[in-house]
Amino acid sequence: MACKQAATSGRVNLSNLALENRLIGGKYRLLKSIGSGSFGEIYQGIDTQTGGDVAVKIEACEVKYPLLAYESKIYEAIGSHLGMPACYHYGSEKRFNVLVMELLGLSLEELFNLCKRKFSIKTVLMLGDQMLMRLECVHQHGFIHRDIKPDNFLMGLGRHCSKLYIIDFGLAKRYVHPKTHEHIPYRDDRNLTGTARYASVNAQRGVEQARRDDLESLSYCIMYFSLGKLPWQGLVAQNKQQKYEKIWEMKRSLCIDEAFKDKPMEFALFLKYARNLRFTDRPDYVYLRQLFRVLFRSLNHQYDHVFDWTPLQKEQRKKDRERERERVRQRESEMKINRRQRLEFGSRSAREPIGDGLKHKR
Ligand SMILES: Nc1ncnc2c1ncn2[C@@H]1O[C@H](COP(=O)(O)OP(=O)(O)O)[C@@H](O)[C@H]1O
Ligand SMILES: [Mg+2]
Repeated sequence: MACKQAATSGRVNLSNLALENRLIGGKYRLLKSIGSGSFGEIYQGIDTQTGGDVAVKIEACEVKYPLLAYESKIYEAIGSHLGMPACYHYGSEKRFNVLVMELLGLSLEELFNLCKRKFSIKTVLMLGDQMLMRLECVHQHGFIHRDIKPDNFLMGLGRHCSKLYIIDFGLAKRYVHPKTHEHIPYRDDRNLTGTARYASVNAQRGVEQARRDDLESLSYCIMYFSLGKLPWQGLVAQNKQQKYEKIWEMKRSLCIDEAFKDKPMEFALFLKYARNLRFTDRPDYVYLRQLFRVLFRSLNHQYDHVFDWTPLQKEQRKKDRERERERVRQRESEMKINRRQRLEFGSRSAREPIGDGLKHKR
């Protein structure tokens, strides 16, 4: 069994490359590191021509299995759509490859932590709706993602702050031929690609992944958000291999109704639906979204894009603004004091003989 961490093993430390302030592709300046993954690092940067913010995904040239060029091709093939980050540049610098893309906000994993690792049903349903739309878009373009998990969904920034984005296409794969539209063949001798915690039962069993597996992973995300953790988290084993075996065993013998016993039955239905799909089946995304939307309405929720973290972030922004105002006040009073001192010094030195003043300075 292998996963992304293993596939990109021999992780290269980028910290000794002194990347801050570097100019990339002739116009993007790297500012600070904002994330790291199995591949390398993500930097926040600035487009020096427009002043716009960007994110720069960096992969060292010497990694065993480079993925960034492939990932940039996938972004290009899928193109510009709602919830797909814009990509501005891919290139190779001296010792690393870079993908410059739209700067996004926090990931669902980070927001989950911000909300003390519990999301309300309203938040879960609003997220589920957008996650389903993103999957449908990726699948429509002939790709499966193969690493669906909370870390790979990010909220937008500014006016896009209620929009969910899907990222990280390093493990994505074409499941239909672009011209003949023929589905890839069934196989069951594959290594696991993706993350064991969210992988489908079949993917862990070594079956070639298809649309159904992205959907099953999505339903584990929903389970994770609504229960606070997945039943197979925190299992102890002697090594990774044994841990994966234990996760798989627990996943496949899971009693779905029991797991969701205090939660809306739609969540259990969703997982059962994903598990019952056949290898080449096209998921009925509209049916699944409808399932969530009807539940949403029956619970009398408003589709107002107010997520559990919205008030927390508002509070944080208010604090930031207050802090900024305080800083400005301090700066202004310092400037006033400086001005007064200069004026006093000026009027004193005007009264004093010039030669004397110069002498003092020396
Ligand atoms: N465009 C972006 N804007 C802001 N943060 C990002 C962006 N892309 C990635 N990140 C952050 O970096 C992390 C790792 O990026 P990702 O592309 O998922 O790499 P990996 O392949 O290692 O998982 C993400 O989980 C996220 O926190
Ligand atoms: Mg990722």
